[in-house]
Formats: sequence, structure tokens, C-alpha cells
Amino acid sequence: MKNKKYTVTAALPYANGPLHLGHVAGVYLPADIFVRFLRMKNEDVVFICGSDEHGAAITLRAKKEGITPQEIVDKYHGINKKAFSDFGISFDIYSRTSNAIHHETAQDFFTVLNNKGSFIEKTTEQYYDEEFGQFLADRYITGTCPNCQNENAYGDQCEKCGADLSPTDLINPISTLSGKTPPLKETSHWFLPMDQHEDWLKIWIKEGKLDGVQQHDPKAWRNQVNGQCMSWIDGGLHPRAMTRDLDWGVKVPLPNSEGKVLYVWLDAPIGYISATKEWAIENNKNWEEYWTGDTKLVHFIGKDNIVFHAIIFPILLKEHGNLILPDNVPAYEFLNLEGDKFSTSRNWAVWLHEFIEDHPNQLDELKFVLTSIAPESKDAEFTWKEFQARVNNELADILGNFVNRAVVLTQKYFEGIVPKLNELTEVDQDVLAQLAGYPEKIEGLIRKYKLREAQSEAMNLARLGNKYLAETEPWKLAKTDMARVETILNIALQITANLTIAFAPFLPKKAQQIADLLNCGELGWDVFGSGSILPIGHQINTEKPEILIAKVDDTFVEKQIAKLEASKVANTIAPKTPQKELVSFDDFTKMDIRIGEILAAESVPKSDKLLKLLVDVGVDKRTIVSGIAEHFKPADVIGKKVCVLLNLAPRAIRGVTSEGMILMAENEEGKLSFVSPQDGFGAGSEVR
Ligand code: MF3
Ligand code: ZN
Repeated sequence: MKNKKYTVTAALPYANGPLHLGHVAGVYLPADIFVRFLRMKNEDVVFICGSDEHGAAITLRAKKEGITPQEIVDKYHGINKKAFSDFGISFDIYSRTSNAIHHETAQDFFTVLNNKGSFIEKTTEQYYDEEFGQFLADRYITGTCPNCQNENAYGDQCEKCGADLSPTDLINPISTLSGKTPPLKETSHWFLPMDQHEDWLKIWIKEGKLDGVQQHDPKAWRNQVNGQCMSWIDGGLHPRAMTRDLDWGVKVPLPNSEGKVLYVWLDAPIGYISATKEWAIENNKNWEEYWTGDTKLVHFIGKDNIVFHAIIFPILLKEHGNLILPDNVPAYEFLNLEGDKFSTSRNWAVWLHEFIEDHPNQLDELKFVLTSIAPESKDAEFTWKEFQARVNNELADILGNFVNRAVVLTQKYFEGIVPKLNELTEVDQDVLAQLAGYPEKIEGLIRKYKLREAQSEAMNLARLGNKYLAETEPWKLAKTDMARVETILNIALQITANLTIAFAPFLPKKAQQIADLLNCGELGWDVFGSGSILPIGHQINTEKPEILIAKVDDTFVEKQIAKLEASKVANTIAPKTPQKELVSFDDFTKMDIRIGEILAAESVPKSDKLLKLLVDVGVDKRTIVSGIAEHFKPADVIGKKVCVLLNLAPRAIRGVTSEGMILMAENEEGKLSFVSPQDGFGAGSEVR
């Protein structure tokens, strides 16, 4: 009989870049372990993921790379889907939010809520970039965070202090499109009045009750999740716009809503539902069974996604009606890399697809290390040194060593045939008793989402095996007491068989390899803990076992660190700006560029960046303020012949009127150089 149904989701990654180990450690790997465990317990589980292909993250990336949003999502959806599958993340479906079935599902969802009056349509003022003819939502606008003064906060969030912002909260808002200060312009949107949901949310989160009915155990939620939710709610919830003025996304399914799409944080979680539908169609299932009744919905996410999964999506699900709310939202803290944050933009990362390509035989080793350091309750750090230490000292020396000894000794003394179990000593009984306790221990930890501890218990079982062999020393007894050797190796082999089960959720490939050595096929959780899995007389593999876990040497570590350092150098090189829009010849000839000679230079008070220059440009001598002070001292520039744009409209900079602009070349490292003529070209020579 099948038990409860589970719908397990892993946050849909934006298809705007490749995945790195931080993503893997703090969402996808733990979700996969949890699901593999549930499948072993014969639970009816569907494991859902896919690409999040909408939102400003995508359109801005497309703009940066000079290609269309569609090209961006196609590229990264492909890369990420393949990386997940190569790495062995066992999604039942990896869908994408650009699919038609998703657009339909999201629009239907919106319509249901809109018809129920769950939204409030409001006209508000939003920043508008006149040059680009576009409203500036979310990441299209940056400015200073009113909360922590971070100057690079986005219109939806400050990444420094985590504050949830709207564009009008920003101090000194700047359009990321034109770089200008945008004016406000009226536009109308559909808002979710989150403030009206505070009361039930509080009870649901604190007590796990909805309409008086117990839904989940609130103590099973991580402190961090409860804490973030309560601090949001206690701070007062506000109406939040569920639509955006953008041309990329799911269109608002209403008349007169041209140019409006659903907010990505409305559309993306609905992606879990559309993906379930898609999977159900392909597999002859009924998707509704996985979103209604007593099915347990579990969202694996990173901590930056907590409010969306524990507050906003639950409001939407409840408003929709007839759908379950999450049973748990296991959220992960962040993983750092060699002393610094993972950063896609700075290219400080170990990319999953690159690791797979470079080290195809060390994928379970990586899984093991990532689970050992998983950021379950606080931020954690990945270093290659630690990778080496954990693989060598734990995986190889404990698990690899034990399995190897059990198999090789059985081959040596019994031609690979599982020997008899004779009279049991106290040591044997004790080991078997301890073995019997492991299933419950590991299961309990996994069900509490303590996967790090669960894996370490699996390793303790291998430790137990090692200790048992070290204490009983069958290789010494072989000359005197073969009956004792039979018993010891029988028990050692039973422990080995149990290890294939204990490690199956964590290291599926290694577990399979061990099962191949034992020639025992895949073993189910139901026999876990048993001291008689392998029948007496069973023939295990008789070939000399290959090394189960290869040690990681220092050269490997040095190479990985060198690779990272190299990418750090590479990423200080600014990406090439794509060619600007075409201009007409007339536009070009409007610019009056001439050679000027710098006669005098001084720094501008209270500014690190500016020099005030007196420049002879042939027609006159004039003052020009130039932002080169971080690169040149006044004494360095006097006497230099440079290109000057003469007819730039005068501007007051720090109280000084600047009449023109010095043209500079900037290289990939951000260094500046004057653009100077050959000798013999004096002030006033025209440049065209
Ligand atoms: N794309 C979002 C992120 O990477 C996560 C979305 S989770 C969702 O932060 F399922 F709700 F889409
Ligand atoms: Zn801030």
C-alpha cells in the first residue's frame, strides 16, 4: 500500500546563469536526498522543478549580453537541465515557465483570484524611464536603501540588509536603463492586500492551524523560517503589486491590460503546479491529487525565498481555494566559497556543469562534501582543502576502507561466498544491536530535514564496521579459529549490505557500486537494520574490487584553487559593452573634437575623483573638470596634449563650470589613458 502523497518542490532557478555549488548545497541536493529517501519508503512522491524564465533578472541579463530574453532562457535552461540530470538530481520533471501550459495555468489562477475579488486594482505612481519608454520595476531601478544606506539596493529588495522595498522607498533612485533619475508616472496594477491576511497567517505559522484545523507541526519548521515570517508579519504586511509593466512574462488575462504581465513572484510558484500538470499528463496521473487532500507539500528553498514561499504563495493558494498549503518550507542559509560569497557577476564560483565536466567520477564525492557542510542552520563555507579532507579522511578511510576489507577478506577466505553465522559473542551481539538502531535514527533525522546529521549517522555505521573488524581481527584468527572468522565476516558483510541502504539517498552511485560488489541488487528500506540481509552461501562478486573512493591529492587541490584565482583575475575585466546604436554622419559631425594642451591642473576640494584643468584648445583657453583624479596627479597631466570635445554644453560640477570634456580611453581593467596626437600636432588641431 502506498502511504501519504508528497509533492516536493525545489526553487525554480532563474534561467539567467549557470548553477553553482551554493545552489546545489542549499536547495537541490537536500531536496534530492529527501525525495530519494521517500521513494525508498514507498511514499507516493512527485519531485518538481524547472526554470524560472520571467522577471527582470532575465531581461536585464539579456540586455547585458545583447541578446533576446528568449535566447537567454533557452541557453541556460538547457545548461541547467543537463547539469541537474548529469549530477543525478532525480526530478520527476524539470519544466520551464515559458511553456504554454504554464502561461495558461498562471492566467487561470490569476483569473480565479481576480473573480473572487482577491486583488485590489489601484492606480499608483511608478518611476518611468522616458528615454526607454518603460516603467521601472524591481531590478530596473537602484538607489540607496532607506534601511541600511547601501547605495546599490534594488527597487524590490536590498541585498545587503534583506529589506523588502518598493521603488519609491529608494533614496536617489536611478534607472538602470538610462542611468538617469526617473520621473514618476501613473499606472494601474493589481495588488494583493497582504495586510488583510495577517490574522490567519499568524495562527497558521505559529500554531500550524488553518480554520481551526491542525495542518502541520509548527515546531518542525526551522527557526529561521518562523523567525523571518513572524518578523515580517509583526512589522505589518502591505499590499503588494502582483502585476508589472513589462513585455516579458505571462500576460495579464484581462481586457485593457496591454503591456502588463504577472509579477514573476506570482507566476513562478504557480510553475510548481503547471509542472505537476505537465508531469501528470505525461505519466497518466491526476495532478490534483498532488495538490489537494492530505498530500504534503514541501518547498526546498534558499533563505532569500522565505517570504515568497511561506507568506505570499500560501495567501495565493488559500485564496484560490481547494489547494494545500506547504507542510514545511525547509530553507537553507548561504554557502560561501574560499572566504568569499559566491557571485555570478564576479564569477566567483564553482559551476556545477564545469565540475561535472572536469571531474565526472567524483560526483558522489562532491555530494558527500556538500551534505557534510550543508548550510542548514547557518552560513557555511566550501573550500577545496576541506573537500580533500572530507573525501580522504571520511569517505575513503572509513567507508571505502571498511567495504574493501569486508569484500576482500571474504574473497580471500571463502572464495566470495557468504560464510556461516556461528555462535555469537557479546561483541557480535552488541554490533548487531547497534546496527538495528540505525534505520530509525536516520529516518528520524531525514524527516526532520537534518540531512547533514543523517549522513553523518550513515558514516557512523561504516565506523561501527571498521571498529568491529579492528576489534575482532579476523585476519589473525584465520590460522586458528575459522569458525570465528566465518561469523565475523558474515556480520561484516551484513553491515556492508546495510550501508548500501543507509547511503542510497545521499550517494546513490556509491551505494550502487557497493551493491554490485555484494552482487545483491538494490535493497529496500524495509530490510535496513537487519543482520541477515545476505543469505549464507550467497556469492558476492569475486573480481578484485576497484577502488571505491579515490583519494584527492594536493595537486588536485592546488589546481582547483589556481582555477578560481584565475577566474578572479578574469572577472575584474569588465564585459565588453555592445556596440551602441547607429548614429548618422550628421550626428557625428555635430561634435567638435580638437586637440587641447593642458596648461594647469589642480584637484577639486572635497572630491577624490575630479581635477580642474585649464586647457588651451586653440580657439581659447578654458576650464574643464575631468573625472581622472583617481588615475592622474595634477603634476602628471600638465603639458599633456589630449582630445577634447569642445561643444559639449557647459555643466556646473561642484560649483565649477566645465566647458568641454577630455576624451579618455578605458581598458579592460578600468585604467585610463589620454588619447594624444603624434608630435607636431598643436592645440586646436581638429579631430574628425
Ligand atoms: N527564481 C527564483 C530565485 O532563483 C526562485 C523562484 S522559486 C519559485 O530566487 F518557484 F517560486 F519560482
Ligand atoms: Zn539595506
